[in-house]
Order: sequence, then C-alpha cells, then structure tokens
Amino acid sequence: MLKTRFTELFGIEHPIVQGGMQWVGRAELVSAVANAGALGFITALTQPSPEALAREIARCREMTDRPFGVNLTILPALKAPPYAEYRQAIVESGVRIVETAGNNPQEHIDALHVHGVKVIHKCTSVRHAVKAEKIGADAISIDGFECAGHPGEDDIPGLILIPAAADKVSIPMIASGGFGDARGLVAALALGAEGINMGTRFMCTVESPIHQRVKEQIVANDERATDLILRTLRNTSRVARNAVSQQVVAIEQQGGATIDDLRDLVSGQRGRVVYEQGDPEFGIWSAGMVQGLIHDIPTCAQLVSRIVREAEEIIASRLGRMIATA
Ligand SMILES: Cc1cc2nc3c(=O)[nH]c(=O)nc-3n(C[C@H](O)[C@H](O)[C@H](O)COP(=O)(O)O)c2cc1C
Repeated sequence: MLKTRFTELFGIEHPIVQGGMQWVGRAELVSAVANAGALGFITALTQPSPEALAREIARCREMTDRPFGVNLTILPALKAPPYAEYRQAIVESGVRIVETAGNNPQEHIDALHVHGVKVIHKCTSVRHAVKAEKIGADAISIDGFECAGHPGEDDIPGLILIPAAADKVSIPMIASGGFGDARGLVAALALGAEGINMGTRFMCTVESPIHQRVKEQIVANDERATDLILRTLRNTSRVARNAVSQQVVAIEQQGGATIDDLRDLVSGQRGRVVYEQGDPEFGIWSAGMVQGLIHDIPTCAQLVSRIVREAEEIIASRLGRMIATA
C-alpha cells in the first residue's frame, strides 16, 4: 500500500486517479477504477443534460460502493453549457469530489464547498496552481506538456512543472500527463507529487467504453504519435496523430486559419464517432505521448494493482539498493 496525503484526503486506497475524459469518462470505466481502489471521474459534459448526468451517477453507483467523482470542464465557449445546473446535479446526487479544469474554478469551488464537496483543480501552470490553492481548491492536479487534451501554451514538461509546482503549493498535488506505469508513479512521488492522474492509460483498458480498434491503435502507436492542434488559436490540444490531425496542422502552418476554417475537421462529434465505431482516421481524438509506454489492454484492477505492486518494488528494492553504505 502506498499512503500519501492525497489518499488520506480523499479516502481512496491507491494514489492513482482517472481524470475526466470527454466521451470516455462514463460509469463503466469510473466504477471499474473505483473498484480497483483508485479515484475515477465521470465526465459531466459527456452527458447531454444535467438530468442525464444524474442518471449516469446513479448508474455508476449501482456498479460500485467506493468513492468516485465528477469532472466539470469549464472551457470558454460562445454557447456555454449550463454549468451551474450540472453542478447542482452533482451536489444533489451526493457526489463528494469534483475535478474542475479549463478555467478559473472560483465560482464552482465556492458553491461546492457549501455542500461539503471537495474540489481538485487540474491546471497546466504553476501560476494557476498557486491561484487555485489561494481560492480554496482542496487539491491540485498539475498537467504537463506531455498530456492528452489541453496542455496549455507554456510547453513545460512534467519533469520541471511538477517540482516547480510542488515548491509553491502546499495542498496535496497529483502529477498528470505522461503517466502510465509504476516508474512514472515513483518518479511523480519523487518530484513532490502525492499521486498520479492518468487519461490515455485508463482509456486503453478493458472497461473503457470505446471501440476495441481504438484501444489497439493506442497499443500500436508510439510516443511520437501525437499532434498539437489549434496552436495558432492559442487553444492547443494534444491528439492522436492521424490524417485529420495532420491536415489541421498543415492548414495552421499556412498561417491565418480561423476556427471556422478548422471547425469541421476538429469537430467533437467526429471524435465521438471514432470512439463508437472504431475508425481511428475518422476524426480528431485525444491521446498523449504516453502511448509509447502502453503495450496492453488490461482490466482497471490489473492495471492499478500492477502499478502499485511494481512501484513498491522499485521504491523498496531497486532504489533502496542504490544507497551505498560505504
Ligand atoms: C480521450 C480524452 C479525453 C479527455 N477529455 C478531457 C475533458 O473533457 N476534461 C478534462 O479536464 N480533461 C480531459 N482529458 C485530459 C485527462 O483528464 C488527463 O488530464 C490527461 O489525459 C493526462 O494525460 P495522459 O493522457 O498523458 O495521462 C482527456 C484526455 C483524454 C485521453
């Protein structure tokens, strides 16, 4: 067992988290992660309405009696989803942990704290981590440049970002982006984190509710198989490299592209079809550099127990033996 301030604060067995994932963070995966003793998050905006989210939370509860949370991603949008109503559904469903991401979570932290809900804010820079602590977040998830999804615009990899944030933040912090095995977990703990958050790795498990062919593509891909899209619009996203992502990059390299030029190519609905129908070339889908460390499709229980067991071995044996006594 690895006990950290993070496992203590959230009442979980292992210092491992499955962060929010659009179209992937559904009850099947989240309950399997919870049953494995880790902390999973249902992705609120994958559900079409707050009522549907409440039903998804209830469905998850039928499959586990362990703690799990809900991710509320607050992205700038012309037509914003009804965040306050999603938040209300979370509170009324009795969920006690929320992962916020994407924007300043102040309003949500204040409202959730009134109901005793703890908030982990996921961010991609030291300054945002410091701010989140200041406005009351209970924990931080710090997402390095390696990560799938939105790495921000600073391009600071975890090897620097994690200890830099650990130096400035005193609430429990977990490391995110590029983690997939025991070596990463031990490294994160050494760098000052109290656990790890994994997206791509959990996406490639038996219980992950996406098409088998996408999981097989992740196994086949190596660490170079990602692209950074929407860089020129300062809304960078790390996605699995395919013909569509390459086309987006090529258009952006020509200069002057607007979101209207790219909207059809980067459409989330096309990404959803990738996960549902299993054609990895159909649209944009998220995956990180950690694909290079993913070689199998285990159950969540196998994955979590393997990571914890091997991490204990690394700490107690391999690293321990390196301390010279003379
Ligand atoms: C398919 C997919 C969808 C994601 N969607 C979201 C999301 O909706 N909200 C969010 O906060 N993070 C999202 N993420 C980011 C993950 O929560 C996590 O921070 C990231 O995957 C960590 O990097 P890793 O993939 O290298 O483990 C997504 C990641 C993936 C792989």
